[in-house]
Parts: sequence; structure tokens; C-alpha cells
Amino acid sequence: MSKITAAITAVGGYVPDYVLTNEELMKMVETTDEWIVSRTGIKERRILKGEGKGASDLAAPAIQNLLKKRGISADEIELIICATTTPDMVFPATANIISDKVGAKNAFGFDIQAACSGFLFALVTGSKYIESGQYKKVIVVGADKMSSIVDYTDRTTCVLFGDGSGAVLLEPDTEGFGIRDSILRSDGSGVVYLHQKAGGSANPPSHKTIDAKQHFVYQDGQPVFKFAVVKMADVSAEIMEKNNLKAEDISYLVPHQANKRIIDATARRMGVGEEKVMMNIQRYGNTTSGTIPLCLWDYESKLNKGDNLILAAFGGGFTWGSIWIKWKLNGKSNY
Ligand SMILES: CC(C)(COP(=O)(O)OP(=O)(O)OC[C@H]1O[C@@H](n2cnc3c(N)ncnc32)[C@H](O)[C@@H]1OP(=O)(O)O)[C@@H](O)C(=O)NCCC(=O)NCCS
Repeated sequence: MSKITAAITAVGGYVPDYVLTNEELMKMVETTDEWIVSRTGIKERRILKGEGKGASDLAAPAIQNLLKKRGISADEIELIICATTTPDMVFPATANIISDKVGAKNAFGFDIQAACSGFLFALVTGSKYIESGQYKKVIVVGADKMSSIVDYTDRTTCVLFGDGSGAVLLEPDTEGFGIRDSILRSDGSGVVYLHQKAGGSANPPSHKTIDAKQHFVYQDGQPVFKFAVVKMADVSAEIMEKNNLKAEDISYLVPHQANKRIIDATARRMGVGEEKVMMNIQRYGNTTSGTIPLCLWDYESKLNKGDNLILAAFGGGFTWGSIWIKWKLNGKSNY
């Protein structure tokens, strides 16, 4: 019997309507469009407005988009894995809330928290359920409402993040399409450089934690930048070497969209030109777990069956990793 791999058989995405431009940020903090674009590559990002709206309100439309494209009903979904750093609530899992919103009555679900590497960690997890032979339809969704944890008076972080979600459907394949290999890593000593200090069990919410602004993203940008450049580039080169893939074999690098300079450094290390790099940071900023599936969603029509994709991410924790995918679809909605 041929080996089962987990192929991506549909991609969905969703970004909210509200566009937060660099010009609008210039009215909120001391910054310039020139600074933001030259240091990060970001022009604008999307913000989810509306009281009581959370990551599940980004994920549900992304999944509905995917189901429509694949032409299946929500009843057929067996598992939903949600990567998020901004869950709707501390508990239950956002995946449960999403299941209810999309009507996936036969699915179980859980969340994965690995900051900006969350989608990669969730995708590898989902692929193992498919490879086991026990599950036939698994959804992996990355969704983050970063605007809920960003301090819009802190110019060093508020220019970077946005809200958005992307989702993929995994199904079994016996012709070698889908997730072929992965390298995932974490290093907990990185917690000091990038975290949200309060709100968890170590520092539960209190007036003191709110006054100290400890419910916002804290980032020491330069060390994070240095780690990200090295680790994302190293792990992308490592997965190519491990699988004997040369630059000319790669159709696209699908990088986490944190900073254009980090993406450029990764592409250089892999030896691939910018025409082979998926990039939408200019429109969405860093949507954390949403960046990689939103890239797949944006570039889907350019992809062909058999294309080799290298997914790469780096995030808080620290966490980082890369995945090699042999793409199964031909263009948009062409299953
Ligand atoms: C955040 C980041 C863009 C800052 O860029 P940088 O080139 O490292 O800039 P620095 O932090 O050295 O700051 C340089 C100067 O710009 C200032 N600055 C910071 N944010 C600014 C802004 N939005 N507008 C204008 N000036 C700003 C700083 O205050 C500093 O001023 P100073 O020299 O007077 O102290 C960069 O460090 C980065 O991208 N880090 C990694 C982010 C990341 O990937 N995070 C998520 C991981 S998944």
C-alpha cells in the first residue's frame, strides 16, 4: 500500500474590511510612512472592529470560504485545529467556538499556541492525523486578532501587526502530494524578548497588571530581528539540504510576514529570487498565525500541481520551523 500524505485540497482566507494605513498611524504615534515602509515593508493592515468579536470571527469566514471552494459541507469536517495567540477566551478552545460558528457538528477541535510559528506547528499536527489513516478531512486554520493585544500608543509594535485568518483543508493522498517534510523547533529562553506578560496563570489580570500595560505585546525588536533572520534562513536552508532540493527546484518560498527584511534574508540564503517569494506584508502586516495561509490564499491562482513550496516561520517563544509541500492543486478552486 502506498504511503499516505496530507495534501492541501482547498485554501480559504478572510481579512476584515477596516484598513489601518500608515497615514492613520501617523496621527496616533510619532512615526512616518517612510520609516515604517523602509524598516518593515508594511503599508497597511486590517483591523477587526465590533464589540465582542474575536479570532473565531476571522476564522469562521475563512473556513466557510474554503468549504465553498471545495464543495463540501461542514458536517464532513472531522477535526479543526486552530493556531492562535489571541484566542476568543482563555478557555474553551477557539477551535470549539469556530466549530459551532461554521456548523461543523461532527468535528472535534483544539488550539495550538506557538505565536508566529503557530500555523506551521498546527499544519504538521494536522498532517499526522491524516497520515495515521484514521482521519480524512482536517481543517487547519490560523487566526489572530492582534489589535486586541497591541498598544496603539507604542510606536515600536503598533505599526507591525494586523488582524486576519487563513485556513487549509487536509485530505489523504497516495501520489506523494502534500506535506513531505518538516523541521520544527523551540527555545524557551527567548520568552524575555517577546511576550504578553499578564493574563495567564503566572500574572493573572488585576488593576496592577492593567496599569502596567502588561496585557499588550512586549517586544525587544532588535534581538528578535537578529534571531529571526538567522533561524528562519537556517531552517529553510536545512530542509532543502535534507531533501536534496536546489534553489531551481523551489517554486515558492512562503514566509511568515513579520518584516520584509527578514523575508529577503531568508530568500537570499535559499538562493531564490524575489519572484519566487510570496509577499503580502505590505497589505496585511503581521497577522501572526494568519500570515502563511493568507499568502497561500493570495497566490493560489499562480500555483500548479507538483510545485515545491517551502513554508518558513519564526515567532515568540522562540519558535521556528520550515515545511516542504508538494502542491496538489492547479490554480484557484481547481481540485
Ligand atoms: C521592530 C523593528 C521593525 C524595529 O526596527 P529597527 O531597525 O530594529 O529599529 P530600532 O528598534 O533599532 O529603532 C531605531 C529607532 O527607530 C525608532 N522607532 C521605533 N519604532 C518607530 C516607528 N514606528 N516610527 C519611527 N521611529 C521608530 C526607535 O525609537 C529608535 O530610535 P532611537 O534610535 O532614537 O532610539 C525590528 O526590530 C523588527 O522587525 N524586529 C523583529 C520584529 C518581528 O519580527 N516580530 C515578530 C516576530 S514573529
